[in-house]
Amino acid sequence: MANLTTDFIGIKSPNPFWLASAPPTDKEYNVRRAFEAGWGGVVWKTLGSEGPPVVNVNGPRYGAIWGADRRLLGLNNIELITDRPLEVNLREIKSVKRDYKDRAMIVSLMVPCDEESWKAILAHVEETEADGVELNFGCPHGMAERGMGSAVGQVPEYIEMVTRWVKQHSRMPCIVKLTPNISDIRKPAEAAKRGGADAVSLINTINSITSVNLDSFSPEPMIDGKGTHGGYCGPAVKPIALNMVAEIARSRETHGLPISGIGGVTTWRDAAEFMALGAGNVQVCTAAMTYGFKIVQEMISGLSQYLDDKGMTSTADLVGRAVPNVTDWQYLNLNYVTKAQIDQDACIKCGRCYAACEDTSHQAIAMLPGRMFEVMDDECVACNLCVNVCPVENCITMVEMPKGAVDPRTGDAVGDYANWTTHPNNPSVQAAE
Ligand SMILES: Cc1cc2nc3c(=O)[nH]c(=O)nc-3n(C[C@H](O)[C@H](O)[C@H](O)COP(=O)(O)O)c2cc1C
Ligand code: SF4
Ligand code: SF4
Repeated sequence: MANLTTDFIGIKSPNPFWLASAPPTDKEYNVRRAFEAGWGGVVWKTLGSEGPPVVNVNGPRYGAIWGADRRLLGLNNIELITDRPLEVNLREIKSVKRDYKDRAMIVSLMVPCDEESWKAILAHVEETEADGVELNFGCPHGMAERGMGSAVGQVPEYIEMVTRWVKQHSRMPCIVKLTPNISDIRKPAEAAKRGGADAVSLINTINSITSVNLDSFSPEPMIDGKGTHGGYCGPAVKPIALNMVAEIARSRETHGLPISGIGGVTTWRDAAEFMALGAGNVQVCTAAMTYGFKIVQEMISGLSQYLDDKGMTSTADLVGRAVPNVTDWQYLNLNYVTKAQIDQDACIKCGRCYAACEDTSHQAIAMLPGRMFEVMDDECVACNLCVNVCPVENCITMVEMPKGAVDPRTGDAVGDYANWTTHPNNPSVQAAE
């Protein structure tokens, strides 16, 4: 069996599955049950400064997007950081950590952007014997308006400054949690690194309005006739998160900076994808909120089985494996030619591929008598749209043409690797000639 034990910036956990800072990690009762279910670690729900706790709305705080089977695809929330007293959280963190020494216990923090506030809270957290801190520079609602959360995360200079304070005033490993509500995710990651962060974690939630009530004309979730933007998460955000993780993993400036991958992780496969793109571990929120803590057991057995199948002995063998294959468009092989192929035995004759290709792609699918659908290789540009709209998995596949074969669409033989940088149509190539 592959070894799932991970060492993330010196913090050991029996598996790479941590619960992200959110309602599942809000209190001792939850975290103990999460550890019993098998989670390798938790990032405790974000703590704020001493004093009266924040106040949440008393109406609905979640909105959602569902698939046709009402499976939850995206979750939106307007919840703030913990609304429980600081001393209660600290006491519970200490108590849980004492009983679960082998699990990772990270404490998420968000306090005002001044050195004294950070120094004060770090001293409290040190006493709990937690394994590390995560700086919440990500929450996009409520706290941002008060100059915290994503208001800090959107200004690289602030990230660097606060991270430096944290490293100065604490011995604990420091993870900087990034907001995706920014145009270039590499900039805050670089700032975190400059400030001395041991790692970054991403993504926090994405600014969003999930729906508008067309009777009351209010965004939802609706609080007494009004709504506000919330933070979006769940399976729908995974592609955005994967890209951001890959951007950081392959950037020269941040390459090698440990990453904790977050955003839509629901299955072991999602986790493996994040890890292949450079994440040393993953954090999960929405999946636990949707399916409960035991979902981690499927993640553990699935990842373990996958590593075994691939002949990998530990998660370290997987981390970053896909990073060298993430490239820029200009380096893609323009001589890689494929054609769509329909498996007639699997086809249910729904005609979706035909409609899509005929109306919005390249008129490359013929509808023959008896509703038989066939790809015309001399028209197919291999866009893959038919594959994506076909309701039957693997019914349409993209088949690679061998080198030397003549593409009936272009009349050219399939050649060796060549990309846009040397293509004769590229204006910069023409200029150089
Ligand atoms: C209800 C809710 C509350 C959250 N609260 C926090 C928080 O206090 N601190 C924080 O860093 N992230 C918070 N998050 C963000 C999650 O930790 C995580 O970054 C995000 O949900 C993406 O992961 P997911 O797609 O697995 O849910 C919250 C998310 C949800 C849904
Ligand atoms: S791959 Fe694109 S062009 Fe080819 S058949 Fe499918 S939809 Fe049409
Ligand atoms: S979309 Fe798929 S199932 Fe439907 S007709 Fe095309 S190949 Fe057949």
